[in-house]
Amino acid sequence: MAVTDDPGLMRLLTKVYEEKGWDFTQYKQASLLRRLRSRLNKHNLGSFDGYIKVLEAQPQEYNELINSLTINVTEFFRNPEMFQALDEVVIPRVIASKLRHQHKIIKAWSCGCSSGDEPYSLAMIFLEKLGEARDKFLLAIIGSDIDKAALDEARQMLYAKERLNALDNFLLEKYFTRIEGGKFRLKSFVSSLARFRHHDIIRDRPFMRCDIILCRNLLIYFNKQLQEETLLKFYEALNPGGFLVLGMVESLVGAAANAFECVDNRLRIYRKPEDKALIYDSQKVLSQEEIDGVVAGMLEKE
Ligand SMILES: C[S@@+](CC[C@H](N)C(=O)[O-])C[C@H]1O[C@@H](n2cnc3c(N)ncnc32)[C@H](O)[C@@H]1O
Repeated sequence: MAVTDDPGLMRLLTKVYEEKGWDFTQYKQASLLRRLRSRLNKHNLGSFDGYIKVLEAQPQEYNELINSLTINVTEFFRNPEMFQALDEVVIPRVIASKLRHQHKIIKAWSCGCSSGDEPYSLAMIFLEKLGEARDKFLLAIIGSDIDKAALDEARQMLYAKERLNALDNFLLEKYFTRIEGGKFRLKSFVSSLARFRHHDIIRDRPFMRCDIILCRNLLIYFNKQLQEETLLKFYEALNPGGFLVLGMVESLVGAAANAFECVDNRLRIYRKPEDKALIYDSQKVLSQEEIDGVVAGMLEKE
């Protein structure tokens, strides 16, 4: 049964859309219903109409609703192999392309970033890769999410040790400060690279001219049609030659499957094709030595 076949559910989703602008009508129905039922159970209700009355009487219930409909699970360097591929393949290609075109701005977007671990992980690997050349580029990382509470957490940059278990000690020492109470705070030279924006990928215009878009573990909640529409938005938002990274259980669907080139199917890394004339050069992956060499050259010229 489609969401629209259940009048009570449709009334609820319409109410939520009218009041808050959140459109859940194209989220996968099974998980949507499971989560809505947990809210109904919480209030001992048997119908969606009853829940509409709760929302009217207690508007703060909208926060609980969005919390249960958006799954915020995330961690630093989630799926380390993918981050390794970013480090070894994607970022070197982006840097090579920037150098060739003499562009300074590198723009990355983590869409559905939850509490920010993903954009901050990306900031760390960019810093590691660029080394002293960091100042040669204007690095902008946008983290966006529909969930304001998750974004507030991202902006706080405060972590219990368990949240940082996936991090190498080296990265922990370099990019975090230990503070009172055994917690850690991300250093400002990392956090300043990331900007967080409240943004609904269904409703809002995408952030344009991106070199890398990470959208991992979000499309999985959308139905096929919405997945396709979203993927085409990413296509539009990427610079030619820009990279799209999906979650490990997500893939390209519909027209998007033909629009993107595959870089690594297992790791779900795709690419918007470059202009034909530039393809040969842009395939070249710079080794760390080559990047160091380029950086050394740039520094000497100063
Ligand atoms: C499971 S988390 C993924 C976090 C991170 N990308 C990762 O893979 O570790 C999914 C995130 O997508 C967000 N989300 C759900 N619907 C969204 C929408 N329409 N627009 C933007 N973000 C959305 C949720 O709030 C949640 O934070």
